[in-house]
Amino acid sequence: MTPVPATIESLARAAHVLRAGGLAAFPTETVYGLGADATQDAAVARIFAAKGRPRFNPLIVHVPDLDAAGRLAMFTPLAKTLAAHFWPGPLTLVLPRRVDSGLSLLVSAGLDTVALRVPAGGVAQALLTAAGRPLAAPSANRSGSISPTTAAHVAESLGDAVDMILDGGPCTLGLESTVIGFVNDEPALLRPGALARAEIEAVGGPLKAAGPGIASPGQLASHYAPEGSLRLNARAVAADEALLAFGPDVPQGAARVLQLSGRGDLTEAAANLFAMLRAADAAAARIAVMPIPMTGLGEAINDRLTRAAAPKDTP
Ligand code: TXA
Ligand code: MG
Repeated sequence: MTPVPATIESLARAAHVLRAGGLAAFPTETVYGLGADATQDAAVARIFAAKGRPRFNPLIVHVPDLDAAGRLAMFTPLAKTLAAHFWPGPLTLVLPRRVDSGLSLLVSAGLDTVALRVPAGGVAQALLTAAGRPLAAPSANRSGSISPTTAAHVAESLGDAVDMILDGGPCTLGLESTVIGFVNDEPALLRPGALARAEIEAVGGPLKAAGPGIASPGQLASHYAPEGSLRLNARAVAADEALLAFGPDVPQGAARVLQLSGRGDLTEAAANLFAMLRAADAAAARIAVMPIPMTGLGEAINDRLTRAAAPKDTP
């Protein structure tokens, strides 16, 4: 995809692409982001497909200001103080999702929290305003490659996996935002980034290291378990099981069937995964999952389901 200069016209076109469920890469003050409408599961699933990520990491949701952020998540006084001080800017806050946020479950990778940030770049701000939607945006590169700080980097890395690339020149900071979470209202550093720890500590007090009780990226596994048991590669199903189906040949007899994708489309299955896993968990004490191929997003789907199937630690 050839980058287009960010103008009023191209920004309007990118906003249209995003509202229609497409992907648009855009510059922020940190790195270029691969944007999608954070309220549409299918659009968010396309981000993972384009990046080729082997896992569903929770993504950062970008909003134009603190008011918009407050409609998506619950802010404690400390979170509000940090936001008021550093937004717009390279600080991301992980906060409890509001039940009525309207955000995709996939954007949080099934967690009850959401990472929010107000970017400082003029193009990012203009796009958020034009789109009128919160935008999920990880760095606009394929998984495992270097974060892009120019539109040309994005084009090289993602090719035609993205519908549009807005060129706003090189990013001023060139390093991802600092990610902060909270344990009992105490701030914890989840990812070092463009905003220095000392600056944050001067406003919010000492930052804890990410540890037990906080969903740091490496520890998300413990948050992934459903209430009931889950088995994979099911080709038959029992009457007391809820079935997560994939493809047209669905075995009969389940208490409830949730079809991830009747036509066997892995991006559609990824979009449905977290909502259907919750629904299956609510419908029966046991969940059976049909075989899902390991191609494309199948790897991330199977990673998530394998964690859900692992025996739980007893408290
Ligand atoms: O500078 C940036 O932050 C760039 C630009 C484009 O804004 N965006 C970016 O997004 O780096 P992303 O989605 O790749 O960053 C996700 C980071 C990961 O470290 C992830 O683990 C953490 O945020 N994160 C997101 N949601 C989380 C959650 N609910 N709990 C814990 N960590 C979370
Ligand atoms: Mg990245």
